[in-house]
Amino acid sequence: MDWEEIYKNKEKPAWDIGKPQQFLIDYLSENHPQVAIDIGCGTGSSTIYMANKGIKTTGVDLSKNAIKQAKIKAGRTKRRPLLMTKDVLKLAYASKFDFAYDSGCFHVIEPEKRKKYASIIYKLLKNHGRLLLLCFSENEPDWGGPHRIKKPELEETFARFKILWINETEFKANDSTIANQFASHKAYAMLAEKI
Ligand SMILES: C[S@@+](CC[C@H](N)C(=O)[O-])C[C@H]1O[C@@H](n2cnc3c(N)ncnc32)[C@H](O)[C@@H]1O
Repeated sequence: MDWEEIYKNKEKPAWDIGKPQQFLIDYLSENHPQVAIDIGCGTGSSTIYMANKGIKTTGVDLSKNAIKQAKIKAGRTKRRPLLMTKDVLKLAYASKFDFAYDSGCFHVIEPEKRKKYASIIYKLLKNHGRLLLLCFSENEPDWGGPHRIKKPELEETFARFKILWINETEFKANDSTIANQFASHKAYAMLAEKI
């Protein structure tokens, strides 16, 4: 995928729904992390949401254009997150965050790099830090787009973590055919803890 080209486009990409996915909102209504990282944060809606909740938040994305847009959005908010153009596969943080959030980045990582992704996330989390992740599941029909992830693939990739749960859920996206309506894709949400 050419992420820069996608974010240059005036039209919003399907995943950029202008607000966090519901499972993040639900999770943060009951859990209160202090230092968070949003992996593949795109234009930053979730990063900004977390920062506005008083969480010290860093958002990273491979795309300069996405981060540029995220910074403009964050400029209007009171509690500014740190936003950086970075490749998740090159992050070198150690025991810095108690919460890592990923909505839609893991499922675009090449399968052979998934283990590396998992070990980088493991390293950047503090002990008992948690990863909350949303990815397309194998139940989503194959029309192209991101990888469909099977439950055993999640279990195998994140075997070093304690997987607290993997739930079937939906991944909301903009529906290009109907203005102001969301399409829904079959997804897994996973919560895993560094032990
Ligand atoms: C499906 S989008 C989701 C964006 C955002 N999380 C959201 O919900 O709007 C996937 C994002 O991952 C980013 N991405 C892809 N590969 C990446 C990598 N290796 N490191 C960091 N970001 C990456 C893309 O630029 C894109 O913004």
